[in-house]
Amino acid sequence: MAKEAFGIDIGGSGIKGAPVNLKKGELAQKRVRIPTPQPATPDAVAKTVKDLIDSFDVPADMPVGVTFPAIIQHGVAKSAANVDDSWIGTDVDTLLSEVTGHSVFVVNDADAAGIAEMEFGAGKDKSGLVIMTTLGTGIGSAMFMDGKLIPNSELGHLTYEGKSFEKFAASSVFEKAGISYEEWAKERLQKFYGHVEFLFSPDLFIVGGGVSKDAKKYLHFLDLKTEIVPAKLRNEAGIIGAAALAHAERKLEVKKDKGEKKAKKDKKNESAAELAAESVEEA
Ligand code: BGC
Repeated sequence: MAKEAFGIDIGGSGIKGAPVNLKKGELAQKRVRIPTPQPATPDAVAKTVKDLIDSFDVPADMPVGVTFPAIIQHGVAKSAANVDDSWIGTDVDTLLSEVTGHSVFVVNDADAAGIAEMEFGAGKDKSGLVIMTTLGTGIGSAMFMDGKLIPNSELGHLTYEGKSFEKFAASSVFEKAGISYEEWAKERLQKFYGHVEFLFSPDLFIVGGGVSKDAKKYLHFLDLKTEIVPAKLRNEAGIIGAAALAHAERKLEVKKDKGEKKAKKDKKNESAAELAAESVEEA
């Protein structure tokens, strides 16, 4: 199979996608962005995802990976912190596969960004416990133990003063609060990362999300024992990670399918051999 897959990143304001070259870990073509429909209901978003895929020439057998900003367990959305409530309980894999006509694999947005960073960015070849966080509208997280994802960690929903940490420390909150980078880092991010560090003793923190491009303005204010570095892939991490995961899932499916076919063939051969042996005995 060619090392290419299609990646889509569903966000609160835009839905972005492009084919991804998974050998290089970069977009194979310029990405297309369509504004997220409002209200962002499952049907409206699915239709936009279809329009986005249709604006490229995507072969029917190309794996398609899609990020979604909520808990995604076995393809089903289980939360809706920053999206329409009607997503809860939606089988996103099935909905998007039916509407687009492609076999779609959905993953939490931070998990997808983390996968891209682990494969191609700041987490490449890093072992031990790596925690990627995305600072944006909310706070997303992705945890990796020796490169293996522990999905749906949702560390942005650890609580601080009775509220989710993301309501206090996300970059969207920082932008509205009218405080300096120093204040944001020392008074808010420090509390969040300090708490996560105490709970998990990670080996590395990776900071992603749009604001990671300004990391030089605030990361040095943090006082942590753990190394903390900005993400390398920036805006494209979600698209690349979703594509990488969809490609890996497809490979697993193909392997499983081949395994099942082989088992069937072996069984057939076995029964044929048994039949042959029986008829020899009878003769
Ligand atoms: C959601 C997460 C998501 C994060 C970043 C949080 O509010 O609960 O699932 O990864 O926002 O979008």
